Amino acid sequence: GTTADHEFGDAQFVVVANRLPVDKEVLPDGTVNWKRSPGGLVTALEPILRSQTGAWVGWSGIADSDDNPDIEGIDIHAVPLSTQEIAEYYEGFSNATLWPLYHDVLVKPEYHREWWNTYVEVNRRFAEKTATAAAEGAIVWIQDYQLQLVPKMLRMLRPDLKIGFFLHIPFPPVELFMQLPWRTEIVEGLLGADLIGFHLPGGAQNFLFLARRLAGQATSKGTVGVRSRFGVVQVGFRTVRVGAFPISIDSGDLDAKARSKDIRKRAAELREELGNPKTIMLGVDRLDYTKGIDVRLEALSELLAEHRIKPEETVMIQLATPSRERVDSYVRMRAGIEQLVGNINGVYATVGQPVVQYLHRPVPRDELIAFFVAADVMLVTPLRDGMNLVAKEYVACRSDLGGALVLSEFTGAAAELRSAYQANPYDLDGVKDAIEAAVQQSTEDGRKRMRALRRQVLAHDVATWAESFLGTLESVTETAADPNRG
Ligand code: ADP
Ligand code: F6P
Repeated sequence: GTTADHEFGDAQFVVVANRLPVDKEVLPDGTVNWKRSPGGLVTALEPILRSQTGAWVGWSGIADSDDNPDIEGIDIHAVPLSTQEIAEYYEGFSNATLWPLYHDVLVKPEYHREWWNTYVEVNRRFAEKTATAAAEGAIVWIQDYQLQLVPKMLRMLRPDLKIGFFLHIPFPPVELFMQLPWRTEIVEGLLGADLIGFHLPGGAQNFLFLARRLAGQATSKGTVGVRSRFGVVQVGFRTVRVGAFPISIDSGDLDAKARSKDIRKRAAELREELGNPKTIMLGVDRLDYTKGIDVRLEALSELLAEHRIKPEETVMIQLATPSRERVDSYVRMRAGIEQLVGNINGVYATVGQPVVQYLHRPVPRDELIAFFVAADVMLVTPLRDGMNLVAKEYVACRSDLGGALVLSEFTGAAAELRSAYQANPYDLDGVKDAIEAAVQQSTEDGRKRMRALRRQVLAHDVATWAESFLGTLESVTETAADPNRG
């Protein structure tokens, strides 16, 4: 439909994310291939959009492409990015400024005014594309740190929309956030939403403090609950809700797939192919310095040196998806990881039997599930992670109640997965003890822990996450529209 100066779109529900659910690849002979996009955001949102038709606004993953691939049930609206925009908005401001700043400044964030200007421009392009896709009064759900200005920009273009925003990474401590030269613009950008969601109550509370301090708005001061006790920011006549919504996975789907005969068979084959080791350890990550891949390799190396783990009984598999390969800190980190892998094998491998097997490429989904089923010990050791879906995926795949999860305290998942072998990733002795305990656990203790973990993951799946967020978003705007309520 149209109004005086607007051409509205058709979509009643729009997801806006930096990436489309699929990643475009052009082969040397010119044929185009669409693959699954990397990362937890797509893992979580794809099943949501399949279950309720809607539009998805995002970038194809390569330069200057405005192809809209055909995906059943999802109406794709590609936002083209130029080579320079990829360098300044994606690799620059998103992944060399915001990503390290929001992850405890694990590497030093770089602050460049040109990157910021391009971030503003690209956020505006996303807002404009969304404005043409959304029907009147539609629900728009903006995702993650790459698009923090879109809520305000979109509200100015389309005040009729219900706008939600969810941050998939940690929201940092106030003292770190204050480094950002454009801190006020970011907070005001987010406040364009009706509902702002974080994984954890702590992130929501950090944001409420900053809304008061930087944007000068009146806010609630009580503690925020999980999917409850939302915070409130009063922005003029509008009420913005702030809440904690821990993200999850399609647990039931993964559980069913992992039970299938083909996957079980493949898991058994994998163990054979590895020479039937007593213990298979597994790491599955994007190759990112936040993931603590070095932590687990160093722990393994010391455990081997101290004879607490036997090289002839142990295989560690590290599956690592290439990520952000043009960003300096990622190039350096990759070299460090590959050196560690080489060192361990140099000392402890025998010919034909490496201790660490490392693949620098994404693994097909079914193969990954077979790895989860085969792994005796899952190593999830990030220095900081918003949630970490891999930990939940492993648990969902273990209906046999086998396996053990070693989990960093500094993941969002640690708040929910209390029966894992938890450790502080900065305390190498603690990590080693956790790994050793997981390797040596009794069947009975292991089953008890896994049962408790599964209860949590199966009861709180990604549908729970989306329903609690979207349910709150709808109720927010109803109360906000009626000054006699709320
Ligand atoms: P992030 O969003 O930071 O990448 P998550 O753990 O939340 O981290 O999500 C990662 C997603 O990517 C999971 O669904 C996981 O299964 C998938 N994934 C990670 N590494 C690989 C890999 N090497 N091969 C295939 N899938 C992977
Ligand atoms: O929240 C995790 C996340 O950063 C997503 O926003 C992102 O799409 C994904 O990981 C993968 O990273 P990238 O899109 O940079 O390849």
